Amino acid sequence: MYTKKLGSLSFVATLFLISSIFALEPLGVPDKDEIEYPDDEEPTKEEVVLGKTLFFDTRLSINDQQSCASCHNPELGFSDGLEFSLGTMGEKVGRNTPQIFNLAWNVTFFWDGRAKTLEEQALGPIEAGGEMNMPLATLIPKLQKVKGYQKLFTAAYGENSINKENVGKAIAAFERTIVVDDTPFDRYMKGDKNALSPDAINGLALFQGKARCIQCHDGANFTDNSFHNIGVKGDDIGRGKFMPKNDKSLDGAFKTPGLRNILYSAPYMHDGSEGTLEDVVRFYNKGGNGNPNTSKLIVPLNLTEKEIMDIVAFMGALNQPLVIERPEIPKE
Ligand code: HEC
Ligand code: HEC
Repeated sequence: MYTKKLGSLSFVATLFLISSIFALEPLGVPDKDEIEYPDDEEPTKEEVVLGKTLFFDTRLSINDQQSCASCHNPELGFSDGLEFSLGTMGEKVGRNTPQIFNLAWNVTFFWDGRAKTLEEQALGPIEAGGEMNMPLATLIPKLQKVKGYQKLFTAAYGENSINKENVGKAIAAFERTIVVDDTPFDRYMKGDKNALSPDAINGLALFQGKARCIQCHDGANFTDNSFHNIGVKGDDIGRGKFMPKNDKSLDGAFKTPGLRNILYSAPYMHDGSEGTLEDVVRFYNKGGNGNPNTSKLIVPLNLTEKEIMDIVAFMGALNQPLVIERPEIPKE
């Protein structure tokens, strides 16, 4: 009796220690009031329409073959279903296309966190040789010649406002509207106890307990906005590239992806190496794939088959099918 009590006391103490070190954010419903807009201003309707039009327009690629939506396809969970996406010239991009739900709350972008804002991020793939391959110095005059864009930019930003800053601004404004906040999990958190199946409720408990997922996938969007090597094998050093030369601690570390609408954007991980959510949980259950620099937070979990499937059921309750209507692309 005494030792049992002591055991549970030290268990509580350990939990306290873990949570105070990591200052975990509780899971919950995303709060739109917490979105930090540039200049503290919500985008106008006109800005969002412009951004959405640009997002879906193949004019943004050098050969008019590819738009942002070619890789971030709303019908495929804003991803492309491929292990590695293909650039506009047909060559493989070095990483898997991430989904882009609820990035309005994010503070670091790309798998390795190399962009700090959505505005900055948006211009990257346009110019990237392996992606849309379109120099901004060529894109801006190309857009300036399109009457439809003269109108759309004027409505959003005033006369003669077709420039690279506004292209980035408008696309980011559209991206911040891609919000998932009414999933079965959200309804459960708001008090509808029938919104989750008993299996998913058990999965939620495991996610926060035995399976330790919440150590990194915390907060309303299931990400700590930080970088970890979780044991995916491969040569890509990810965040390590931005560390001092002799600091190898973040070699193979990537940004913790948010998990809202995660069901739709298979395959998973920065290299697309896990095909399904079940594969992902089995990957964690064995403590990763033996990357020598794996984080100490990743350990074998000893989950039972039922527990594995319950965590999958929980992630299946983080989804909300969004219908994104395609905008009309100006013909001239
Ligand atoms: C050829 C496919 C492709 C195209 C076209 C493309 N992307 Fe991406 N996108 C990717 C890949 C791959 C990554 C991850 C790259 C990395 O992290 O190094 C990415 C990352 C992102 C991210 C970061 C997501 C996160 O969680 O940090 C955003 C946002 C994004 N893209 C938006 C866009 C926008 C806007 C456009 C159009 C201007 C666009 N993408 C065009 C493939 C593509
Ligand atoms: C140590 C931090 C950490 C822990 C613990 C952790 N994750 Fe992750 N998770 C990450 C990171 C970082 C990635 C991206 C890794 C990569 O691509 O190399 C990721 C990727 C994922 C993905 C793929 C997302 C995508 O868009 O490709 C899913 C799903 C996922 N984790 C679920 C879980 C579940 C379920 C658990 C608990 C069993 C868990 N994670 C535990 C940090 C963590």
